[in-house]
Amino acid sequence: QDIEESFERIANAVKASERVRRSGVVDGHLSKDGEPEAVLFPQLPYIEEGNINSPAVLHRLEALGKHAQAEIDAVVSFGIGGSYLGGKVLFDVHCGEFWNSMSAEERNQYPRLYFSGNNVDGDRTEALIDQLCREAQAKGGNYKVMLIVISKSGSTIEPMSNFMVVEQGLREAGIDYEVIAVTDPHEGEKETLLHGLAVEKNWPIFSVPDGVGGRFSVFTEVGLIIGAVTGFAIREFLDGAKSMDEACQTGIVTENPALMNALLKYIAAEKYGRNIEIMMPYGDNLKSLSEWYVQLLAESLGKEQKDGSRYGRTPVVAVGTTDMHAQTQEHQEGRYNKIVSFVRIAKGKSDLGVPHIYDTYSKLAAFSGLPLHTIMNTALEANAEALTSDNRFNCTVELPQLNAFHLGEIMFMYCWAIFYEGQLAGVDAFNQPGVEVYKKLLGPKLAAHKEDK
Ligand code: PA5
Repeated sequence: QDIEESFERIANAVKASERVRRSGVVDGHLSKDGEPEAVLFPQLPYIEEGNINSPAVLHRLEALGKHAQAEIDAVVSFGIGGSYLGGKVLFDVHCGEFWNSMSAEERNQYPRLYFSGNNVDGDRTEALIDQLCREAQAKGGNYKVMLIVISKSGSTIEPMSNFMVVEQGLREAGIDYEVIAVTDPHEGEKETLLHGLAVEKNWPIFSVPDGVGGRFSVFTEVGLIIGAVTGFAIREFLDGAKSMDEACQTGIVTENPALMNALLKYIAAEKYGRNIEIMMPYGDNLKSLSEWYVQLLAESLGKEQKDGSRYGRTPVVAVGTTDMHAQTQEHQEGRYNKIVSFVRIAKGKSDLGVPHIYDTYSKLAAFSGLPLHTIMNTALEANAEALTSDNRFNCTVELPQLNAFHLGEIMFMYCWAIFYEGQLAGVDAFNQPGVEVYKKLLGPKLAAHKEDK
């Protein structure tokens, strides 16, 4: 009945999706400067001549990957928000927690990789420089760092300040390095500071393309470059996105995973007041998927609706099973104001099981013999069932396994789900005027600090 009541909205959202695919037009979407702006994320899975991801773009990324494999010991990637979160997901899923402690052979000669510029924390940046110096010393010569600076605007304070500090640190330590800029490709009047600097210094430039907001940019050079320099299967990732894109084209709600996802969440919010979303994948390497989704949801939907009222769901990062011991109490018995989105990996990479070494202790014998992955997924099932038993809204998205293809599928599904929900709710999912307000205050405040000095 709820779905039937939304029938007209669904039909309009489907028409809007057809239009954006055809022409890149989303009604009412304006750029920061108030100009109509194309929305081009739907074409990203398609590696075609004339598209953002052309064959030449992919070849260039792959060549960079080979160069990194052959010449580079460590990469530092500077970026924040949409210029960081997608790449971090690719890194975590492909490389995992211990990549930087592995030997070069174990990394298939790909470099270590560190992120910076996601904050302005001098302690962390100093520790990073110290780490690079330690590595250079341990290698005893021929050590080279690649600094990848990612910023669409080219002047964002967090990545640019950290980049300058790290570059200076490397110079002072006498460590060899090269710089790659990833920024808005325009030249002339619209040229960004980073683009101008890269041209002046002769640094290779990769693109943050027009028409793709930061939160959708994991499917562009912005995210793919992190994959390329660590040996992640970027073509399979885009293939996964393509396969999901094809599944998300039908107007039949029950056959379109993104539309279904969007509609249920829209109804949950508008009709049942469920205005918080806990994104809770099960698996340690998936925390950044949750962080990426938080940005996608918050920046896309937390804004004014066409009729002047307000929309949005507050996103919360959670990881299973970890947060079952922290947040689940509130999910199960707190206010009926949230939905919980689980992500389940059907088959884990590891089949490590709990050994029968303490079977005399019945509480330990109870789970001895079981694979760890089975325990994790069973905990998810129990959590979902417990929530459902008390009308606590939840859904589980299952990936057959965690690889580049299925990661591309799920991330693209959420991109389309956000598009559809924006249409259902009557908000422009592709701008973020709210983040400009504090930025206008920050500039004068920093200038006042300089005057104080
Ligand atoms: O999604 C967004 O637009 C933001 O999160 C930006 O990506 C973030 O502010 C970084 O901006 P820039 O790439 O211009 O440095």
